[in-house]
Amino acid sequence: MSILRTLQERFRPALLTLVDPVDELLGMIRPAQDPQFGDYQANVAMPLGKRLGHPPRDVAQQLVARLAVDDFCAPPTVAGPGFINLRLRDEWLSGQLQRLLADPRLGIPQVAVPRTYVIDYSSPNVAKPMHVGHIRSTVIGDALYRLLQFVGHRVISDNHLGDWGTQFGMIIYGYKHFLDTAQYRAHPVSELGRLYKLVRQLIDYHAAVRELPQAEQRLAEAVRRHHAVRGGADQAPRDKQRAAALREATAAVAEAEAQCGALRATRAEVEQDPTVREVASRHAGVEEAVLQETARLHAGDAENVALWQAFLPHCAEDIRRIYQRLDVRFDHALGESFYHGRLPGVVDSLLQRGLARESHGAVCVFLPQFETPMIIRKKDGAFLYATTDLATIEHRMETWHPDAILYVVDHRQSEHFDKLFAAARLWGYEQVELRHISFGTVLGEDGRPYRTRSGAVVGLEGLLDEAIRRAYHVVATNDDSKPGGPELSEAERQTVARVVGHAAIKYADLAHNRTSDYVFSYDKMVALDGNTATYMQYSYARTQSIFQRGQIDVAALRARQPEIVLAEPTERDLALELLQFGDALDKTLEDFRPNVLTAYLFSLATRFSRFYQQCDVLRAPSERVRESRLALCDLAGRTIARGLALLGIGVVERM
Ligand code: ARG
Repeated sequence: MSILRTLQERFRPALLTLVDPVDELLGMIRPAQDPQFGDYQANVAMPLGKRLGHPPRDVAQQLVARLAVDDFCAPPTVAGPGFINLRLRDEWLSGQLQRLLADPRLGIPQVAVPRTYVIDYSSPNVAKPMHVGHIRSTVIGDALYRLLQFVGHRVISDNHLGDWGTQFGMIIYGYKHFLDTAQYRAHPVSELGRLYKLVRQLIDYHAAVRELPQAEQRLAEAVRRHHAVRGGADQAPRDKQRAAALREATAAVAEAEAQCGALRATRAEVEQDPTVREVASRHAGVEEAVLQETARLHAGDAENVALWQAFLPHCAEDIRRIYQRLDVRFDHALGESFYHGRLPGVVDSLLQRGLARESHGAVCVFLPQFETPMIIRKKDGAFLYATTDLATIEHRMETWHPDAILYVVDHRQSEHFDKLFAAARLWGYEQVELRHISFGTVLGEDGRPYRTRSGAVVGLEGLLDEAIRRAYHVVATNDDSKPGGPELSEAERQTVARVVGHAAIKYADLAHNRTSDYVFSYDKMVALDGNTATYMQYSYARTQSIFQRGQIDVAALRARQPEIVLAEPTERDLALELLQFGDALDKTLEDFRPNVLTAYLFSLATRFSRFYQQCDVLRAPSERVRESRLALCDLAGRTIARGLALLGIGVVERM
C-alpha cells in the first residue's frame, strides 16, 4: 500500500474538476514538513490559483469540498495562503497495521503492469584486479535488481564482463615472456595477477620516460608564466584581475608539478629496482607488442585463443569469490567476447543504412548533437567498446525484449552512454528506455580516489577483510559492555562480524546519493549509531531480543492480529512510518536511488528507538497495550529486515 498514491488517486478527480492535466500537481502532495500541521500536505492551490486567476485559498477550499478522503483522513484543513493539510485517522492507521501483521509482503502490492528490465552492473574487466569502484556498481545494481523484482517486474541481470580487451594482450605477453611455471601451477590467479601488474608497469614506465620531457617543459613554462604574472614585486597584487591571473598561474604550476611528480615516480619505481630495470630495457616495445597480441587473439590466432581460454576460468574464479562474499548472483554473464562475432554485422548494418560512414579510414557514426563522432571501427580494423555495446543492445532486444535497459556504471562513462543511446535510437531502438544509472567516485579521506598508502588501488578482498576486522571490534566491545556480561560466544562474534562488516561496506555505497562522490571511512561505516547498516542491524536485533526475553511466540502473535493502540505520540509516529514503507519504495524506484530507502530505514529505526525508550513493551500497563506494542515491535523488525534484504543486506538475531 502506498499512502501517497492513495491520496493522489483521491485528489485526481477533485483536481480534474478544475484543470487538465493534473499529473504535475499530483506530484505536489508530500509528507508534511512539520507534524503539527498533519501527516501530509498538498501545495497545489498556489500554482493552480495563479493559473486560474483565483485566490489560492478559495481554490484550496473548493478542492477540499470536492475531496473524498473521509474513510482514512480527518477533515482536511486549509492553512496560510492555501496549504491543504491532511491527517490520517488513528483508527485507519491501526486497522492497516493490524492487516500488515499477517501479510508477508508488509502491504507492498505487485505492480499492475510489470515491465521487463535488463540491468547491466558490476561488469568488471576480468584479469585486472577488481577495485572499490566496481563494488559500487555491483552493490547498487544488485539492490535495484532486488527492488524491481520485489515490486513485481521481470528483471534480468547481465554482467557485461570485460573479458576480451587489451588486458588479455598484456597477460598473453606476460605469459610468453615472464611466466613462473611453478607458481602458475600452484596459484594461477595470483601468477596471472603478477604478470598483469608487471606488464602494466613496463608499459607505464616506457610511457613515463617518453612523456616526461614534455611534462617538464610544460612545468618550466608554467613557472615562467607564474613569474611573469607575479612580476618583480613580492607583495600581494592589488587589483582583482591580477590576483585572479596569479591564482590561475599558481594552480597551473601545481598541476604541472603533480603530473611530473607522477611520471617521475613511475619511472623511479622501475629504475630503483635493477632487475625490473633490466627487464624494462629489454622490452622497450612492450606497448606495441601487447596491442599485437590482442589483435592476434581477436583474429583467432590458435595459440592466443588457447591461452585466453586457459586464463578465463581462473579469472572467473577470482571474481566469483567476491560475488559469493557479497551475496550477489547474475542471471547472465555475457562478456564482451560473446559479441565478437557480431561486430562486423553491426558495422555493416550501420553503413548500409547510411548511419555510419568512413572518415580517415575509420568507420564513424555521426551524431548531430555531439561534436565528435562515435568510432565503431578503427583504421586498423579493430572494433571498439562502443561497437560491442551496440551489439549487446541488439542481442538483449532480440532475446529478452526489455522495456528498459539500465547501465550501472560510474559517471566517467556518461559521454559514452549518451552517444551509445543516441546511436541506438538512430539504429531503430526507439521504444526501449535506455538509462545510465551513473554513480560518483569513492574517495579516500584525503579527498582523492580511494587508494591504499602504497598507492596501489585496494584489492577488494582486503577491503572486505578490513571491514570485518573493524566490525568484530565494534561487536566485541558492545558485547563486553552489556550490563549482564557478554552474551556472544567467540564463534558467534565472528559470524556476526562477517554479516556486519559486509553490510557496512554495502550500506555505505547505497546510503550516499549515488551521483555524489563519497569519502570511504571504515570508522563511520561500522558505527553503532548514525545512518549505518550496523545501527539498522542493531535495531533489528533489539526487536528480537524483546521477543526472546518475553518468550513471545511471534507466529501466534501475528495470527492473533491484535488491535493496535495508538495512544502515545511515539506509537503513532512509529505506526505512520511503518505504513510509509510503500511510499519509500516508490520514491526509491522513481529515479533508482537506493539512498531514499536507506534514509527511510534510518528514520524508521530512529522512531522505533524513541518508541522503545518511551513505551514499556513487556511491562506495558495492560495486556491490550502489551499485545499492541509487541505487534509494533514485530512490524518494525520485519520492515527493517525486509528493507535491508531489498538492499542485499542481512541481519542477525542478536549482536
Ligand atoms: N567493463 C567496463 C569497465 O569496467 C564497464 C562495462 C559497463 N557496461 C557496459 N555495457 N558498457 O569500465
